[in-house]
Amino acid sequence: MENGDFWKQLKAQGPIFALAPMEDVTDTVFRELVLHVSAPEWLQVVYTEFTSTDGLCHPVGRDKVAKRLVVSQSERDLLRAKGVKIVAQIWGANPEKYHQATRWLCEAFEFDGIDINMGCPVRKIVKQGSCSALIGTPDLAREIVLATREASNLPVSVKTRTGVSQHRTEEWTRQILETGPAALVMHGRTQKQMSEVPADWDEIAKVVRVRDEMGLDIPIIGNGDVASVADGLDKIARHGVDGVMVGRGIFANPWFFNREKPERSPEQKLALLWKHATDFHKQWDGERNFAILRRFFKIYTHDFAGAAPIRAAMMETHGLEQVRQLILESPWAKALETEPV
Ligand SMILES: Cc1cc2nc3c(=O)[nH]c(=O)nc-3n(C[C@H](O)[C@H](O)[C@H](O)COP(=O)(O)O)c2cc1C
Repeated sequence: MENGDFWKQLKAQGPIFALAPMEDVTDTVFRELVLHVSAPEWLQVVYTEFTSTDGLCHPVGRDKVAKRLVVSQSERDLLRAKGVKIVAQIWGANPEKYHQATRWLCEAFEFDGIDINMGCPVRKIVKQGSCSALIGTPDLAREIVLATREASNLPVSVKTRTGVSQHRTEEWTRQILETGPAALVMHGRTQKQMSEVPADWDEIAKVVRVRDEMGLDIPIIGNGDVASVADGLDKIARHGVDGVMVGRGIFANPWFFNREKPERSPEQKLALLWKHATDFHKQWDGERNFAILRRFFKIYTHDFAGAAPIRAAMMETHGLEQVRQLILESPWAKALETEPV
């Protein structure tokens, strides 16, 4: 049923850069912010936070869960203007729920693709047989991909890891590619490794070799420790992947998806912080906890002289007005009127 497979087009254009799905990070507000300051040639795909298929099938809980899939009109406009694709990431362990949730997703939302999470290593999720646990149950993983593909008129991709307690890269890649995903994102760590060791890009290179041996054209995206666009390009050239996905790199540099890294002034950094806080307030007032923003405040208040005191003070804020006051009383008050670029 799938049509309009953008992955194949992106693969042909190459190289592909994607912003990783991240819980409590990649909501519509943060995605829009990243889109706002990114160069379209260095960002092709963004993802939602992961969303439970059980939740999406729940008659009462559904609307609350679906909030994770919100795409604001301003984000939508930017996606269109920059030609960036947006993928909804879902998770669960029951193929029927995937089928039902996917039907609804395709009817009620406007995504470009659906991604199945087979990588999350968090204990309480893995215990339910979901996410990276599926690496250990390839028959169920297969049923899930097929049920999702059957219900979907969008391309269905998979994001996963190289194994559960040990790398099982080649066998697992073969098993998952046989299910015909539109793309495969491989994070170069096992479930057990969480994010505690460097990602193993030699393992990711094996995924490409298996794909080629199978004579398939499925795009392979490598994930793990990509530090900059230049580093991404180097990893693409060295390991043969069609693209890279960037997670924590965006915390070190919100302007990640640009070729150059011109130094941003403190006003520019605080202007981005202020935009984030005000957009978050507008979008989520009362629905999401303001404390979520503190993780981001750290991103915007480092790497400039005098940053430490305002960073520490930002960590104590509980609302928008306190944030405004801190900027106003700082040497960088102009940030409140600066458009971040
Ligand atoms: C805060 C946080 C939340 C995450 N949430 C998700 C998620 O919802 N779905 C997912 O597939 N991966 C999630 N991940 C994993 C990332 O997508 C990515 O695979 C991982 O961080 C490795 O990439 P990196 O080394 O570039 O950070 C999360 C990672 C972080 C740090």
